[in-house]
Amino acid sequence: MSISEMLAAQPVLRTPRLTLVQLGPDFLDDTMAALADTDAMRLTGTRGEFTREQVLAHLSRLPGADDRADFAIVDDGGRYLGEVVLNDLDDDNLAMNYRIALTGVEMRGQGYGTEAGRAVVDWGFDAVGLHRISLDVYSFNPGAQRSYEKIGFQVEGRARHTLLWDGEWVDSVLMGMLAEDPRP
Ligand SMILES: CC(C)(COP(=O)(O)OP(=O)(O)OC[C@H]1O[C@@H](n2cnc3c(N)ncnc32)[C@H](O)[C@@H]1OP(=O)(O)O)[C@@H](O)C(=O)NCCC(=O)NCCS
Repeated sequence: MSISEMLAAQPVLRTPRLTLVQLGPDFLDDTMAALADTDAMRLTGTRGEFTREQVLAHLSRLPGADDRADFAIVDDGGRYLGEVVLNDLDDDNLAMNYRIALTGVEMRGQGYGTEAGRAVVDWGFDAVGLHRISLDVYSFNPGAQRSYEKIGFQVEGRARHTLLWDGEWVDSVLMGMLAEDPRP
């Protein structure tokens, strides 16, 4: 199967504590709650107000999309923990971008993000056939950088002053992982 076909047929991924399922309209309330998490919005540099209609329109486009894979992270009790995404497909160069956000401060620091990330990265390399997965993390978010390093992402560079937040310039740390890199 081609990369596009693999992405369109996005499977359910399972880890010891989590199930990653296709994100879509069923998760509208969860996604609206996530957008109200001001700390996560700062950490991801997300600005702007999104109406319920806009969010529903976005979620409706995700199932079956052949250029991205959006997973809802759900725990054993069926509780929504956040989302993890492969997007920005560069088909010619077998590359995609990675991003993740757990909803709610209480979800963080328990290894859930790292566990979900490992599953998505393994699927991206081993099943989809990607060669490279990359991401940006703001310099004020060392916890996220640490989580990415535990998955196997390596720091590749730094882009200066990519975000102006509350009057302060923030840098982006650029990280990447190749299919053949160690997976700690
Ligand atoms: C980023 C995120 C996905 C990481 O997932 P997580 O489950 O919280 O991560 P983990 O618990 O596996 O690991 C966090 C690590 O950061 C470390 N850490 C936390 N705060 C830190 C800090 N200020 N400085 C350095 N390390 C820190 C923890 O000690 C832990 O490392 P350890 O396991 O070696 O002790 C999650 O916290 C999240 O969604 N945060 C909010 C949104 C966000 O920041 N998204 C990423 C945008 S790029």
